[in-house]
Amino acid sequence: MIEIKENVSLTGLSTMMTGGNARYVVYWDTAEDLKILVTEPQYVDILAAGLKPVGEGSNLLFITDDYRGALLKCACENVCKISEDEESVLFEVSAGLSLDELINRCCNSNLWGVENLSLIPGTVGAAAVQNVGAYGVEFKDVVVGVNCFDIEDACRRYFDAEELNYGYRDSLFKHESYKDRMVVTSVVVRLSKYPIPRLTYGNLAETVGTDKDNICKIRDAVVRLRNNKLPEVGIVGSAGSFFKNPIVSDKHFEEIVNCVTDRGIDASTMPVYDVLEGKKLSAAWLIDKAGWKGVTIGHAGVWPSQPLVLVNIDGQASGAEIAGLASEICRDVKDKFSVTLEPEVEYL
Ligand code: EPU
Repeated sequence: MIEIKENVSLTGLSTMMTGGNARYVVYWDTAEDLKILVTEPQYVDILAAGLKPVGEGSNLLFITDDYRGALLKCACENVCKISEDEESVLFEVSAGLSLDELINRCCNSNLWGVENLSLIPGTVGAAAVQNVGAYGVEFKDVVVGVNCFDIEDACRRYFDAEELNYGYRDSLFKHESYKDRMVVTSVVVRLSKYPIPRLTYGNLAETVGTDKDNICKIRDAVVRLRNNKLPEVGIVGSAGSFFKNPIVSDKHFEEIVNCVTDRGIDASTMPVYDVLEGKKLSAAWLIDKAGWKGVTIGHAGVWPSQPLVLVNIDGQASGAEIAGLASEICRDVKDKFSVTLEPEVEYL
């Protein structure tokens, strides 16, 4: 079923909770609905406004007061079992289901693979586009394939995980001709019937304690860790990590170490992870050492316990104000440490 709402407040459409209105929000259930939307003449105005697929808006920043396009939101939350063997179960999950609800059901059924992603806001569809990750696990680790509707060619498409070219917060859907053209309708995931606890990230193992094969204990530990560090969704406006952790070449890394040392900071305290392309750095650490932790400008602020998170302090910040704070941080981190931070959040 297609349902169209006009002039909808943006506050409930993104977790940053900035103000203004969206011209149209289109709620849909199936690929057939999307076909009707893009082919039938009665929807020509909506099509002309421009279609933008969104989930729960947990990775979006509306930078103008009003959004003039049409936001496409999947209202379908089905979970269907496709098959099962001795080791695993395959499910097709509708794009509109909240990721945390999927995780909750998996944990209650003792199905392993997504428990480390507990409490990440957003839908299953958005998770497959963004390849969300936390505590050493990425959503791609369970994705078998993704069903989409191609807005341009008005047809269904299926991509298997390999074709999706998954990377750090990245997939085919975020690039060139596929961006905003492929609307995810459902995601096929494979979950393990056998325990596969992954507890090597930070102090996760310590937080879980004994009984490491208890999936609900792992979920509880992740929830506790996130609650201690991150603002509560729906209470304080934020979009999770605002920037990606930068990946730099080995040569560039040497230059960064010099900048850090020149500022009187012990470079051995800088978190560094070896990756294929060189070194992955901690954006939180760089922002912290540049002196931004807890800083506020107007109604926009840097979260004190995780400076990678920018917040709408009192619910009164505009998107432009948050973007302004982000660009000040980028400029300063570049000046001080010669590192370019790239927003993880998408500006609309
Ligand atoms: N740190 C500081 N100062 C602080 C806080 C952290 O220097 O005030 C440094 C610490 O050295 C810490 C390091 O930052 O060890 C990393 O912090 P954290 O473990 O919170 O991880 P992160 O790299 O900052 C990433 C994801 C988060 C995810 C966590 C846990 C990105 C952009 N962010 O953050 O994802 O929850 O790891 O796995 O990759 C999100 O994407 O929205 C998100 C919240």
